[in-house]
Amino acid sequence: MTFFRGRRLRRTPTIRGLVQETRLNRQDLIQPYFVMETDDPYFIKPISAMPGQNQFGLAKLVERVGRAMDQGLFACILFGIPKTKDSSGSQAWAESGITQRAVAALKRSYPDLCVITDVCLCEYTSHGHCGLVSGQEVLNDPTLELLAKTALSHARAGADMVAPSDMMDGRVGAVRAALDSGGFMDLPILSYAVKYASGFYGPFREAAESPPQFGDRKTYQMDPANRLEAFREVRADVEEGADLLMVKPALPYLDILRDLREATDLPLAAYQVSGEYAMIKAAAQNGWIDEQTVVLETLTGIKRAGADLILTYFAEQVLGWMQ
Ligand code: PBG
Repeated sequence: MTFFRGRRLRRTPTIRGLVQETRLNRQDLIQPYFVMETDDPYFIKPISAMPGQNQFGLAKLVERVGRAMDQGLFACILFGIPKTKDSSGSQAWAESGITQRAVAALKRSYPDLCVITDVCLCEYTSHGHCGLVSGQEVLNDPTLELLAKTALSHARAGADMVAPSDMMDGRVGAVRAALDSGGFMDLPILSYAVKYASGFYGPFREAAESPPQFGDRKTYQMDPANRLEAFREVRADVEEGADLLMVKPALPYLDILRDLREATDLPLAAYQVSGEYAMIKAAAQNGWIDEQTVVLETLTGIKRAGADLILTYFAEQVLGWMQ
């Protein structure tokens, strides 16, 4: 009797290795870090809903990143938390703001590290929204100029790439124009092109101290029910000059990643967000799943679906496992 014998290629680790279709590399992984403006540069505070992740003072961050680089860290993305917040989020573009200082310090210590910055106002505004607010409304066009200034200030501090995550319309074009006129025509933009209004950002908002003080982000972030809208967002960002595109969150949106992998030839990133991290950590801490198996399974799945790059809070840990 002849029938398909799939097991022939699963018999030994060697054979499985030979026919493995998707492999994670250290170059695929981007570790997010939260840097706090503090009096004590060695400040470190664990984030309760994200076991293993911390808010860092500047010197502590540099120390931590150094250790991660010894393990093979290639790239990181920074989220700054300023001491003071105001209605326009002015610390976002302050020349000596916490993010700008962190970029400069990291690049001084580690010129080879790829430092990406998150460009958004929500960590810097007193109301916690990603743009300027009038009454209950988040204003689109007046926000663009502030985002552009923020991106330019990150570039001046030495960032290797900027990643606008605010979901205002027209922001990629505004950021591109500001970078070009500031002499940074070679600095790439990683656009959070397809960002859903997700419940999975919960722990991040504790980490970045940025929960919206009224309402939610549904007037600017995407409806999880929508697929075609992702194509429209991508088309707009490509036309405006994005160099890389991101889908966020990752695991609930693997279909979108697959669709976009086929629709664009730009590098594609996926963000395994705070809530995805928290779920795995919580289940693993209870002994309900095996952490390493599940982490590698999710990251492999995200890559298999079409991501070239993965922003994940597990990056440091995975680098440790790879050694
Ligand atoms: C800023 C931003 C957020 C995340 C990344 N950049 C929060 C939000 O949109 O509310 C979430 C990342 C995560 O949950 O890990 N706008």
